[in-house]
Amino acid sequence: MAYYQQPHDVTRLPAWQALGEHRARMNAFSMREAFANDPQRFSRFSLNQCGLLLDYSKNLIDDTTVQLLIQLAEEAGLKDSIARLFNGEQVNSTEHRAALHTALRSPIGRKLELDGVDLIPQVHRVLNQMTELVTQIHSGLWRGYTDKPITDVVNIGIGGSFLGPELVSEALRPFTQRGVRCHYLANIDGSEFRELTAVLNPETTLFIVSSKSFGTLETLKNALAARDWYLALGGPENELYKHFIAVTSNPEAAIQFGIKAKNIFPMWDWVGGRYSLWSAIGLPIALAIGIANFKELLAGAYAMDQHFTQAPLEQNMPVLMALLGIWYGNFWGAKSQAILPYDHYLRNFTKHLQQLDMESNGKSVRQDGTPVDFSTGPVIWGGVGCNGQHAYHQLLHQGTELIPADFLVPVNSFNPLADHHQWLFANCLSQSQALMHGKTREEAEKELRDQGMDEAEVQRLAPHKVIPGNRPNNMLVLNRIDPSNLGALVALYEHKVFVQSAIWGINAFDQWGVELGKELGKGVYQRLTGQLDQPASDASTQGLIDHFRDRHRG
Ligand code: F6P
Repeated sequence: MAYYQQPHDVTRLPAWQALGEHRARMNAFSMREAFANDPQRFSRFSLNQCGLLLDYSKNLIDDTTVQLLIQLAEEAGLKDSIARLFNGEQVNSTEHRAALHTALRSPIGRKLELDGVDLIPQVHRVLNQMTELVTQIHSGLWRGYTDKPITDVVNIGIGGSFLGPELVSEALRPFTQRGVRCHYLANIDGSEFRELTAVLNPETTLFIVSSKSFGTLETLKNALAARDWYLALGGPENELYKHFIAVTSNPEAAIQFGIKAKNIFPMWDWVGGRYSLWSAIGLPIALAIGIANFKELLAGAYAMDQHFTQAPLEQNMPVLMALLGIWYGNFWGAKSQAILPYDHYLRNFTKHLQQLDMESNGKSVRQDGTPVDFSTGPVIWGGVGCNGQHAYHQLLHQGTELIPADFLVPVNSFNPLADHHQWLFANCLSQSQALMHGKTREEAEKELRDQGMDEAEVQRLAPHKVIPGNRPNNMLVLNRIDPSNLGALVALYEHKVFVQSAIWGINAFDQWGVELGKELGKGVYQRLTGQLDQPASDASTQGLIDHFRDRHRG
């Protein structure tokens, strides 16, 4: 039976109904009390896997909650869904595609057939091709048109052809190999292009045009601008091949663009863009940190794949995190999820997860096309701690929304500076604790009285000082950020997103919603530039087009 034909209305499952009833009983649940009553709560609700410690004890859960959530996963056929994902079934039913990003981190010697072809040798051939390029560039053998070695690599790509590679190469900056600087050019905004090229020399710059489709407007415009820039600064046309390579599953389009066939690194339609950092789309990562570290990254992700496929559901990190998300999104009305990395090097993690989660699970119909009548993917937002504490944490603590938060923090810093890291870690833990613990009216009043305030002032201020607490959060602790545990961390969230999609019965691997804006963009562009006289179909768009045309100067 095709994947999408399976009947699947999660809300009709007995566990869903039972969770609804259980939720009503959990209204009075207090995490504070749960911790006070159970000294083992941390050890019962925490898990150590693949270099990651997950503490999920500060959640609105008891044993029954976990048991019912696991039951939900079982009734929804999660184990079968995981097997289908890893076996290469067409889990992306609207595009008739498998989603085999896991094959990209599979060690040589394993076998995985898709349409009668073993994918693993292909994957490793490309890995070897990447190794060759990285070696040539790092050793100075790859030379530009004036025979100088490459010093700067610019990845031109957007979405999945940008966010994952940027996250990883920045997160692993302490592992950077000397000699090559990596830059990212994503947006069509000319300011980004100008600012970047101002610090580059065409003689020593290599551009990677990174686009699965080789049809993405922003990437193609930037690639053309880069080519013009290279030519304008004296780069000879017949030596362009020394400065432009491509990663794509559409080699014909890359060749037509002017990239030499031998400079094209393949990727495959069975890898989704937002899951592609493990493929040749990860070239800028490998160039930044070296191929050995890139392989460590793959190995870390593979370890998480092994854990995900083999661990029982109740001890399975991605499964537990996914189920907690479902618990809050579908039973507590949470609309968003905060991702709060307490590490400078992980500052792009939230951005990557925004695409990974929101482009995957921002769906409102099931695989079979029927509309869902429950919430699916949450809004993912957040940013680096401690900065967020002095900005948006106020809303996490006292706002009216319930916003589950994931804290991510390493035990060790690569850059010890006095006691800064101890303070950073302490801040991370205390935020997590404050969200759970809160401050009662009695505590607030006592605090004010202890400051010597008169009773009228105590009563006036106390309501503002009350912090509800009972706000759920996970803590993910790494020893230090290294290629292996970073690989595991990224794979953990990939699988979390998949588990949720499988339980909701939606397709995590297409993204039709982004197409309409692209289509309409062509008409708007033609009207802005006077190529089309016919007015836009609505007065707002036309009014804004007129505004632009009246004021735009060149
Ligand atoms: O427009 C969305 C999207 O298709 C993403 O899914 C993808 O990661 C991004 O654009 C870039 O696509 P490509 O790698 O084909 O240029």
